[in-house]
Amino acid sequence: MTFLITGATGSVGRHVVDELVRAGAPVRALTRDPAAADLPEGAQIVRGDLTRPETLAPALRGVTGVHLIDVGGPGYAPLPNGREIVELIRRAGVRKVTLLSGWATGTLEAAVTESDLDWTYVQPTEFMVNALAWAPSVRARGVVEEPFGATKTAMVHEADIGAVIATVLTGDGHTGHSYGLTGLELLDMPAKVRILAEAIGRDLTYTELSAGEMRERHRAQGVPEELIAFQIEAFDVPDGAYQVSGTVEAVTGRPPRTFAQWAAEHAEAFL
Ligand SMILES: NC(=O)c1ccc[n+]([C@@H]2O[C@H](COP(=O)([O-])OP(=O)(O)OC[C@H]3O[C@@H](n4cnc5c(N)ncnc54)[C@H](OP(=O)(O)O)[C@@H]3O)[C@@H](O)[C@H]2O)c1
Repeated sequence: MTFLITGATGSVGRHVVDELVRAGAPVRALTRDPAAADLPEGAQIVRGDLTRPETLAPALRGVTGVHLIDVGGPGYAPLPNGREIVELIRRAGVRKVTLLSGWATGTLEAAVTESDLDWTYVQPTEFMVNALAWAPSVRARGVVEEPFGATKTAMVHEADIGAVIATVLTGDGHTGHSYGLTGLELLDMPAKVRILAEAIGRDLTYTELSAGEMRERHRAQGVPEELIAFQIEAFDVPDGAYQVSGTVEAVTGRPPRTFAQWAAEHAEAFL
């Protein structure tokens, strides 16, 4: 029972690795740069690149289940070679696959869901870790600047996403399911900022940006236009667009972590 985790150094993948290592399962963690990978000792680190499938064949040898990400390359570009990756997985005799949804429908999603593999599609809402983008302005000026302040989202903790994926990989009864994952609470921007302020013990101000201001900032950081448009679309929604789902608890048996818990765990980054 060896599991291959792609995106293992990422904000979700490292939790999948942690969960499996804690459970005593053999884990192979894929990265393009093993020297830079900071992963638990129990994980076997293997070099591989999803955009170069020939690098995946050795990593897939003897594997029972694979966790896949749908992106590879700068700007979270959707993978262009989904069919090739799925063919390699099938040829290696692997049956079970989890797939983390990307921001755009890539070729891997179609290839996995149309295949005869035992797949489970994991579709989280906004990750709590996105809040780390606020750290520079919080540290410098005590300010969080974001558009769409009234939009309520039920951010999900990356560790809960990792726990769902690890549970699916090691358990039964999840084949063919698409799991929409959220946290416990719908929060607007002022509420998120209040929770963060309490966790770090510092007064913070929320300043609402216009969508245009956000677009300019992201452009200056080199974020691709399509990704900026997606980010705006995801937040420029009517009241009630997002709901809380009970899937984290239904799959793992544990309620999702709160944003207050995430903020306490990451307080140092904001101080
Ligand atoms: N942020 C959100 O709110 C949100 C919500 C829903 C879904 N998502 C989706 O979640 C995914 C991002 O996950 P994340 O936040 O865990 O990622 P992340 O922290 O940004 O890390 C990216 C991971 O992708 C790996 N990677 C990138 N290109 C690769 C390639 N060519 N071959 C192999 N590995 C490659 C990196 O591995 P190495 O650098 O070590 O090779 C790294 O582990 C995206 O698909 C995004 O659309 C995000």
